[in-house]
Amino acid sequence: MRKPLISGNWKMNHNHFEAIQTVQKLAYLVGKDELELADVSIHPPFTDIRSVQTVIDSDKLGYALGAQHCHFEDKGAFTGEVSPVFLAKLGVQYVICGHSERRELFGETDEMVNKKVAAIQQHGMTPIFCVGETLDEREAGHTESKVLGQVRAGLAGRSPQQVGSLVIAYEPIWAIGTGRTATSDDAQQVCAAIRVCVADLAGAQAAESVRVQYGGSVKSSNIAELIAQPDIDGALVGGASLDADEFARICKLGA
Ligand code: 13P
Repeated sequence: MRKPLISGNWKMNHNHFEAIQTVQKLAYLVGKDELELADVSIHPPFTDIRSVQTVIDSDKLGYALGAQHCHFEDKGAFTGEVSPVFLAKLGVQYVICGHSERRELFGETDEMVNKKVAAIQQHGMTPIFCVGETLDEREAGHTESKVLGQVRAGLAGRSPQQVGSLVIAYEPIWAIGTGRTATSDDAQQVCAAIRVCVADLAGAQAAESVRVQYGGSVKSSNIAELIAQPDIDGALVGGASLDADEFARICKLGA
């Protein structure tokens, strides 16, 4: 039985004061009962991570600390980049990698994403490895070839045990921040195809344990239908995770 993972990706929103307020408000709304049923991770901007960590630790909130990105090298002359070593030291548990915004806007390639998946795991954290197709690719009937190609490239070289312990987030690019969500049937179909691909790459056990999230305009009004799908094990939530009330509703309905 895979425990759902509901992740809030704040992207470049909320300064560290707003971050503290949001997490403290969430703490009143989502507590131990929900966290028995679902894991919840929060992915603030880098400048907020230390503040959010302090709130989570001092109040023993039970949320997992997340990051949105990291470099694949431990250290060196990479101005502006953040090392996975530093994130691990801060108690970060989940690191998003290969997000479509990083791929499209910052030139991340499949090869770089593959190195990041490895680096994140090497430092004892769990990658939330993102894949997804553009609208043109979907309309041309290339959804599965695009998504499964990304899955194979990102997971190349990982052992079955490593594959089984990570999280794959299926985020159709046309559904991100647009208010358009894949229908639950469409999302299920792609998530099921991802699981079949994982079985092919890493065996049945890895496919059974890998968690597959859906992301793209997830809200409290659509999470229940998405989470009810057999191959959807959680959600990667952008805009709707910025508001503690709405994110709390999503966590409760997704648990
Ligand atoms: P939205 O929920 O704002 O569509 O963003 C999805 C996303 O990109 C999460 O990583």
